[in-house]
Amino acid sequence: MSSPQQPEQTPYEALGGDAAVRRLVDRFYELMIEVPEYHHIRKMHPADISSSNDKLYRFLSGWLGGPPLYMEKYGHPMLRARHLPYPIGIAERDAWLACMLQAMEDCGIEEAMRMALLKAFYGTADWMRNRPE
Ligand code: HEM
Repeated sequence: MSSPQQPEQTPYEALGGDAAVRRLVDRFYELMIEVPEYHHIRKMHPADISSSNDKLYRFLSGWLGGPPLYMEKYGHPMLRARHLPYPIGIAERDAWLACMLQAMEDCGIEEAMRMALLKAFYGTADWMRNRPE
């Protein structure tokens, strides 16, 4: 019999854990190259995307309620401060979010989860804006 105290499933578990987060981040950065509308944000990243990929994968693992892999390797994310060198306005925020939405679709994440995550991503991406519009 299941206990009424049983904690709810985290988004990390609902998505399918580590392999699902890796797949999502891989697809996210693939799309940044494939889709011309995302090229301006791809160009802000290093030519070799592997370390950016590893950082986002580790960050999302903890952000989704899974193991805090980013903290274990790099310490506190201080995301806003780390994005200050890159000019992020509404266009960059929206390109990042569109790329992530498309990656979630391509990975087969079901609609209710996709919409809930998009809303949460919006909050984080909007907070990263550092240019007056
Ligand atoms: C709003 C539009 C965004 C743009 C244009 C953007 C762009 C970038 C760029 C250019 C880097 C540096 C890559 C590197 O050093 O390898 C970076 C790092 C990072 N971004 Fe974003 N980002 C955005 C939003 C987000 C959001 C919403 C998240 C999380 C949900 C996120 C998570 C990260 C992480 C974890 C790093 C690595 C930080 C570090 O350790 O240096 N970013 N981002």
